[in-house]
Amino acid sequence: MAIKAIYPGTFDPVTHGHTNIIERASKLFSEVIVGVAANNTKKPMFSLEQRVEMLTQVCAHLPNVTVVGFSGLLVDFAKDYQAQVLVRGIRTTQDFEYEHQLADVNRSLSGDSSESLESVLLTPVPEFSFLSSTIVKEVAIHGGDISKFVAPEVEQAVLAAVKK
Ligand code: COA
Repeated sequence: MAIKAIYPGTFDPVTHGHTNIIERASKLFSEVIVGVAANNTKKPMFSLEQRVEMLTQVCAHLPNVTVVGFSGLLVDFAKDYQAQVLVRGIRTTQDFEYEHQLADVNRSLSGDSSESLESVLLTPVPEFSFLSSTIVKEVAIHGGDISKFVAPEVEQAVLAAVKK
């Protein structure tokens, strides 16, 4: 059975932790739509177009992965793309609490049970379990080496943004 999954996030910027989840999801599902949320409340460092562009570059080796920007509710985005599964990464027990709540809200918002969006939570590989987009930006702002955490093109974009 072909199952289409959505992996949403702000991706400001995409890290190796995100890429690891996307690569694994691409093996589990027939198609993965990476949904880049505009999420202006987070005041992103990169525009939506820049974040979509960076993700498109780092996912270029994955033929069943498509990167799309969105604003509005995640469940509406999932319906537009006829996705049945929502993929999220959980790094810590704190993430678990939050993801549990998010999964419940999305199931409730997605309507009757025959059409509800199922959440699949993947744990990151241990070497990326502490990683977040905020940590990458914080390390770069203070002159640290981020090459272990992000792809070379993302590293260049972050370094250029922090120099501004
Ligand atoms: N590797 C590295 N970092 C990871 C990670 C992984 N495997 N998994 C999570 N993270 C990081 C993210 O980079 C992010 O870091 P940041 O806070 O420094 O930016 C953090 O962990 C997770 O942040 P969170 O706010 O939980 O998720 P998000 O910003 O990635 O995405 C959306 C949130 C887009 C899914 C959510 O805001 C959303 O659905 N928005 C649409 C509106 C909606 O429908 N809301 C829900 C109903 S109210």
